[in-house]
Amino acid sequence: MRDELPPQPAPANSPAVPSASGITSLSDQGPRAASPVHVVGDPSIAVVGHGGQGPFSILPPMQDRPRVLVVDDEKFIRDILADFLGMEGYEVRTAEDGQQALTEMSRSVYDVVISDLKMPKMGGIELLDEIGRRNPNVLTVIMTGFGTVETAIDAMKRGAYDYVLKPFKVEEVVHIIQRALEKQRLSAENLRLREAVSLYKVSEAIAASLSLDEVMATVCDTALQEIRADFVSTWLDDGEGGFFERNRMIAPPRGSVHPHHAYFDPLSPEPARVEGPLVSTDPNTEPVLDDVDADVVRAHLSMDPMLIEHGVRCQRFFRGGSGKPAQSVIAVPLRAGGASPRLIGWILAASFSPGRRFDEGQRKLLSAVGSRAAAAIDNARLYEDLKATFKQTIQGLARALDRLDRYTSGHSDRVAMYATMLAIKLALPPELVEIVRQSALMHDIGKIGCVLNLNKPGRLTQDDYEAFKRHPSHGRDILEPIKFLQPLVPGVHLHHERWDGKGYPLGLSGNEIPLIARIVAVSDTYDAMTSDRAYRRALPHEVTIAEIERCSGTQFDRNVAAAFLEAIEELREQKLATGEDVPE
Ligand SMILES: [Fe+2]
Repeated sequence: MRDELPPQPAPANSPAVPSASGITSLSDQGPRAASPVHVVGDPSIAVVGHGGQGPFSILPPMQDRPRVLVVDDEKFIRDILADFLGMEGYEVRTAEDGQQALTEMSRSVYDVVISDLKMPKMGGIELLDEIGRRNPNVLTVIMTGFGTVETAIDAMKRGAYDYVLKPFKVEEVVHIIQRALEKQRLSAENLRLREAVSLYKVSEAIAASLSLDEVMATVCDTALQEIRADFVSTWLDDGEGGFFERNRMIAPPRGSVHPHHAYFDPLSPEPARVEGPLVSTDPNTEPVLDDVDADVVRAHLSMDPMLIEHGVRCQRFFRGGSGKPAQSVIAVPLRAGGASPRLIGWILAASFSPGRRFDEGQRKLLSAVGSRAAAAIDNARLYEDLKATFKQTIQGLARALDRLDRYTSGHSDRVAMYATMLAIKLALPPELVEIVRQSALMHDIGKIGCVLNLNKPGRLTQDDYEAFKRHPSHGRDILEPIKFLQPLVPGVHLHHERWDGKGYPLGLSGNEIPLIARIVAVSDTYDAMTSDRAYRRALPHEVTIAEIERCSGTQFDRNVAAAFLEAIEELREQKLATGEDVPE
């Protein structure tokens, strides 16, 4: 019953282990459990039982224990070291000479090898040299009897970490191994620190960015490259007590350059915009990845900012099922908000590759990225909120203006719809389509500055008309002081310019007129003609398109007008098919 073995340190009166001549016998060991060494297969390779794996164990789980290989031709020494080191929480295996040790090391990874010097077949020095060649990260400790101190020193010169002289007390060996592992841990951390310096530049880039997309992309890239994760998923709070997955990136398959990237837009009804497949096209070779279980991750991070788990223990952070099981996972909280920071999200990185586990250094690295990114994410979201609020205010104004009289009600929204349709038809990139849409929505915002009734029956007086013609300039004056609305200005300011130069307010012609303004111009005209006005009834669709065709090359850019006519027919067909209203 190994579960009952108390995982205590070796007793103070633990035995001195005999030299080859034998000084101490097993009977000196005092009361302790029967030897936990089980001989497996090859009788000379022994495996220590899994002491302390029961429900009350204070030992780390098997897979987290440092691994030690004891090499000695004396079975007694192998057994007693395996026994005591096993009780200290190490996972120990033994080999009876250098050759067996190398065979064992080719099967599993070891942190420390403790070896006798004089053994048949292959001695300690030869083994040391081989380890130096094959596994330079493994620390070696040499055991030797009196009279061979010179050789022990030689071993140190050849790269051994330390030596012990026989006879020794087991605590001495335990102490040396603890020190060796500590050294190993420190040098690994040192390496990570050096990586952190390179990360500094990344975090500077994060801090300098006001774009949430940019910040999130940098965070994901960093996690994939610096942490060498297979999968990274970022989550943000939705402002209503919940969290949503903002970005997900999967390391590229071998040989490809770009990570597979999924971008989740919480404002969009579409579930995700995916660049590259999230899963391989062949579901048999590359199963779908399990989804992150946000509730479990959140519950953990709310209590404890440290989250690093391996093997079966990390699978509870995923909604298990058909997906590839995670082998190792790190999550770090994103906290923002000054004196009493709140959880605004987290970054989760996972390894799905068997045998590849994250270490504490990698968790610290990700944590550094997270703490840097959190403030930037908070700022970017505040900035975006601010922008959204500004835009909503202006758009609200534009719509309110439309509603001032029944004739122009819904005009701005319809012009925005036609302009968006046209921008897509002209194959503009999505960010420009959005600028066109917003600009069209606000194109008549300047009418706010025209104190006159534009919809009074009868014709406008010359004075009325002159005042009306100032609305594009008023629109520019309203938008221009607001930096992030500046891209919308050309569409607002110049939507009454004409291709032949006879428009206003500047009288620009041809390609002098920005494309965005040419798009808004034709969209505005189509809606104005197909809507009722105070002074006339709406014109039929056919009459309107004939007029646009007639004015193509004079009032309108020929290419833009042609694209509009094509697109408007497609839009009408779509709308008719779904039973929506269209101009007659
Ligand atoms: Fe206008």
